[in-house]
Amino acid sequence: MNIILLGPPGAGKGTQAHRLVAGQGMTQLSTGDMLRAARTSGTEMGKQVADVMDRGDLVTDEIVIGLIAEQLDSDASGGFIFDGFPRTLAQADALAELLDAKGQTLDAVIEMKVDDNALVARISGRYSCGECGAVYHDTTKIPAVENTCDNCGAVDKFKRRADDNEESLRTRLMAYYKDTSPLIGYYYAKGQLKRVNGLGEIDQVATRISAALGL
Ligand code: AP5
Repeated sequence: MNIILLGPPGAGKGTQAHRLVAGQGMTQLSTGDMLRAARTSGTEMGKQVADVMDRGDLVTDEIVIGLIAEQLDSDASGGFIFDGFPRTLAQADALAELLDAKGQTLDAVIEMKVDDNALVARISGRYSCGECGAVYHDTTKIPAVENTCDNCGAVDKFKRRADDNEESLRTRLMAYYKDTSPLIGYYYAKGQLKRVNGLGEIDQVATRISAALGL
C-alpha cells in the first residue's frame, strides 16, 4: 500500500509516519528529511536549498521530484509513505507518473487536519534526536530518561530545527495554504482523499489513521 500524509507544518506527519514504519513495515519517504540530510552532508544541492528552507519557502519542484524518483526503486515491500511530498500540483502529477511507470498505485491520501493554534504550539516545542531522527516535544512527548533518546539511546544528541521559529512558520503556513492545500481538492476528485482529525493524543490519531486505511 502506498499512501500520502498530507497536512500543514506540525500536523504530525513525521510522527505518524514513524508509527506506520514501526507497526506496518512501511517505508517513509520524507522530502524534508532528504533535504536536511543533503544540507548536513554539504552537497551542492544541500547548499542551494539551505536559505530557502530556513525561510520556510518551498524548494523547487525539480529538486524534490528528483529526490523522490531516486528512492522509488528502493525495496519497499510494505509500501511507501510519502511524507511532505507532494506539496504542489506539479509534484502530484509527477508522483502519479512515477508510480505509473513503476506499475504501482497510490492507495490513499490521509489529510491530517489540525488548527493553526495547535500547529504553532507543536512546532515551537519540537526537537528531535540528531542520531536517529525520533521526534519529541517539550510537553507532549518527553523522553523517558532526560537527554536520552527512547528510540536509539543516544545521549545529549537532541537538536531543534532552524526553521522552527515564528517567522519561518508563518511562511511555511502560507506556502501550505497557497501551494499545497489545492491538493485536497485534487485528491478528493480522484476519490483518494481520507480526512483524519489530527488533534488529540498521538495514539488516538494513529488509531484514526489505521481505521481510515482499513488496517
Ligand atoms: P518538512 O520537513 O516536510 O516540514 P513540514 O511539512 O513543515 O512538516 P514538519 O516536519 O514541520 O511537521 P510534521 O507534520 O512532520 O509534524 P511532526 O510529526 O514533526 O519540510 C521542511 C522544509 O523542506 C519545507 O519548509 C521546504 O522548504 C522543504 N520541503 C520539504 N518537502 C518539500 C516539497 N515536497 N516541496 C518543496 N519543498 C519541500 O510533529 C510536530 C511536533 O508536534 C513534534 O514535536 C511532535 O512530537 C508533536 N506532535 C505530533 N503529533 C502530536 C499530537 N497528536 N499531539 C501533540 N503533539 C504532537
